[in-house]
Amino acid sequence: MLGFSSRAFHRGIPYKMFDREHYGLEAKNAHILERVYYKGQANVWDGKEVLGSLLERFGKPQVPEETKRALKRVFAIILWGELAAWRISAELADEIEPLEAKMAATSQAFDEARHFYVMHDYLQALDATPDRLDWGPRRLLEEVMNADHLAKKLLGMQLMVEPIALTLFHVVKKLDIEPVLTHLLPYYERDESRHVALGVQYLPAMLSRMSALERAELWAFQAKLLTYEVVSNYWVANDLYHLGINPRELLDIGKAKQFRAMELVVPKWGQVSNLPSFVVGRYVECMGELSLPAGGKPLPLRERVGNAWRALRHGGEPVTLDLIPEIPDDAVPLIHREQEKPAKKARLSVASAA
Ligand SMILES: [Fe+2]
Ligand SMILES: [Fe+2]
Repeated sequence: MLGFSSRAFHRGIPYKMFDREHYGLEAKNAHILERVYYKGQANVWDGKEVLGSLLERFGKPQVPEETKRALKRVFAIILWGELAAWRISAELADEIEPLEAKMAATSQAFDEARHFYVMHDYLQALDATPDRLDWGPRRLLEEVMNADHLAKKLLGMQLMVEPIALTLFHVVKKLDIEPVLTHLLPYYERDESRHVALGVQYLPAMLSRMSALERAELWAFQAKLLTYEVVSNYWVANDLYHLGINPRELLDIGKAKQFRAMELVVPKWGQVSNLPSFVVGRYVECMGELSLPAGGKPLPLRERVGNAWRALRHGGEPVTLDLIPEIPDDAVPLIHREQEKPAKKARLSVASAA
């Protein structure tokens, strides 16, 4: 048992958890994963303090009623997505065996709990607490939560859902729709950037131990999730337009971030196999042309089918971007960095004592 299957199994003591090679985890990847844990500790923020100080500074969030409705529907996906991320990272922390990857997943679960309650409290202050999700985003999150393999959960959450959330945070922040939200989102972005690392650093180890059939199932799973992402975008397209966001651009940027993450994973995996990503990429471009035409205007079905066929044959416009946003320290003033020094010192003294 390599600790990959997500089905219930008898838990024994994982005596091999210190043996990276047993899990195909390279030393440099393990080192980065360990740092994710310590960075998480050093960059911790108090959700009550941050939201409280922003509410004190800008007052109760107020936006026009129609904007509130749009924010409520779009951020329902974020709120329940944070809960899904919390549950999945807690599950990864439990089931992943190598020490450093387990530490990184544990640190993420701690962050996601904060993201969930702070987002809930913010939406409550806005008087826009969401209840149920629409079909598309609900299926997307439930597919990842109920995946039958840890690699699917890792790919689905860290490399597909997290990059979409990062894209949405970035765009909403730039539009400055509501000042409390604008100043709250950089804290989320800081944390989410670390979470992508768990997928990028640990998925290659998982892939290296999977059979050809399991890998084929993983790419099929990726295509299924991308379909639900397109459907989810379509579902909230009018809300996004209302907020000043082009849903097709959001889809293209989110997809580009996902494929950038996959590019980082595949070379580390050590096998030349861009074909699955290529096929999945063309497929999702085709779906995008059918559901959300690039110009942002509704097009007759015939024209959309023509564009989809062209996208399938030639691909779409390439989007180049950074996977992880740079968040300057002054955008997150309530991250108390002084905590970093004692934590590092304590660890060094233990290491030097050993
Ligand atoms: Fe999160
Ligand atoms: Fe996250």
